[in-house]
Amino acid sequence: MGVAELPPPHVLIFPFPAQGHVNSMLKLAELLCLAGINITYLVSPNIHERLLRHTDIESRFSKYPGFQLETLPNRVYQRNVNTADEVVMLYDSLHSFAKPFLRDILAPNSGGKPPVTCIIADGILSMALDVAEEMDVPIIYFRTIGASAFWAYLCIPQLIEAGEMPFTGNDLDIRIANVKGMEGFLRRRDLPSFCRVQDMGSTDFRMVLSETQQTPRAKGLILNTFEDLEGPILTQIRKICPNLYTIGPLHAHLKTRLLQAAARSNSSSTTTTSSNSFVTVVTRDQLLEFWHGLVNSTVRLIYFLTKQPPKSVLYVSFGSVTVVTRDQLLEFWHGLVNSTVRFLWVVRPDSIAGKDDKENYKATTPRELEEATKERGYMVGWAPQEEVLAHPAVCGFLTHAGWNSTLESVVDGVPMICWPYFADQQTNSRFVGEVWKIGLDMKDICDRAIVEKMIRDLMVERKDEFLQKAVEMARLARKGLEEEGTSFCNLDRLIEDIRLTRNIGKGHA
Ligand code: UDX
Repeated sequence: MGVAELPPPHVLIFPFPAQGHVNSMLKLAELLCLAGINITYLVSPNIHERLLRHTDIESRFSKYPGFQLETLPNRVYQRNVNTADEVVMLYDSLHSFAKPFLRDILAPNSGGKPPVTCIIADGILSMALDVAEEMDVPIIYFRTIGASAFWAYLCIPQLIEAGEMPFTGNDLDIRIANVKGMEGFLRRRDLPSFCRVQDMGSTDFRMVLSETQQTPRAKGLILNTFEDLEGPILTQIRKICPNLYTIGPLHAHLKTRLLQAAARSNSSSTTTTSSNSFVTVVTRDQLLEFWHGLVNSTVRLIYFLTKQPPKSVLYVSFGSVTVVTRDQLLEFWHGLVNSTVRFLWVVRPDSIAGKDDKENYKATTPRELEEATKERGYMVGWAPQEEVLAHPAVCGFLTHAGWNSTLESVVDGVPMICWPYFADQQTNSRFVGEVWKIGLDMKDICDRAIVEKMIRDLMVERKDEFLQKAVEMARLARKGLEEEGTSFCNLDRLIEDIRLTRNIGKGHA
């Protein structure tokens, strides 16, 4: 059979079952659906339920008949994954229960469905690699973090060999010499947070280490980044993973392709953006209350923004996982108020540590903070972040430097103050401050005077300097998404390579 006569490719997409990973890979799924590729999207039962109940996934994907959600067996760990122990439990259960399940799905004529011609698995799910190799199905990895943090993870064995890890003494400002391409600026404190471990034999550390080292076994690696942002580091990665598809920023890439598709079909209905939230609070009633409140609060917060002068508001949000203590919350609050800058602050209902603090933090807040917030601030439980960052009133972003937040800020040319919480965020924030110079890095400090000073620097004293750099980076991001741009061309290449997989797998052609 000639390639033109073959049925459409059928890709199994398997994200790590956590919000950031699932959202990011859903964007990739939609980009592939737009190209006419059939997708089976594999999630755990709890994520499946949340997607159906709390997001627009059904309406969003209803226009792609080749898209279907598939659910892992119930025995897969389905509770919270906020601690290292919980992550290990999830991994262990995926190794035990996802493997046989994958073998069934990949078997020719499985359930009468068209055979899977290619797998795109999250770059931390090596059990998918094992099964793909065993069943001779091509597999491509997708890593949801940035190239720089990924490269730092990949270099950990060299750091250990050179004696740079585990750290000796408490000085986190010591320079790291063995992450090639970052020699001039990377300090211990800028390595992914897992590198601060003392016990390198701990299960969670060994897992993080070994999962990344498996990456070169995949036929290719997709990264949500763009060449002009992380070029020198991508050059390093290509020495180990030569088949790299840099197709980011994914959220902006998806919008670009949806607009193109809409223009082709002369309809604007496909350009609606989707919600990024589906796992914020615990009970069903709380979730429903939260979701209904969100609609009203979104209207109110956009109204708040439209009343502010152009380029005057600092947006504050620490993503979907970060938890802060009441003391930290108060340091930020004092810093924000003392800076006298206008602000819009997302305080997620589940982001404050300790049950009592969570319930009482407002009741016990000093009056002057409440008063000042009423005057020039606005607090919400969740915000439509992409919309907020694109609003003309917004001039800065106080962020945890999660990779999605970082890219969203880059695309809209919004300078950042980074207060990284964990994992890759420690590396992302160093790049924001020291390499791209589109903001300030406040890692490991939570003190009202520093918060105030950094806000004044970003929003007042050095406002023009940061804005100029951020706007230039935004221009480069958009350039990559033009028809001749690197991200655009790399996605076309990925789609072509996926089409070719129809001929590759033994017993799958
Ligand atoms: C996690 C990790 O913490 C992060 O380091 C890694 O890069 C990806 O997985 P998370 O904490 O969810 O990420 O942060 P981030 O990657 O920034 O993603 C947060 C997403 O939630 C963004 O897409 C953002 O737009 C969205 N969001 C957040 C909202 O839409 N509204 C909010 O109020 C807050």
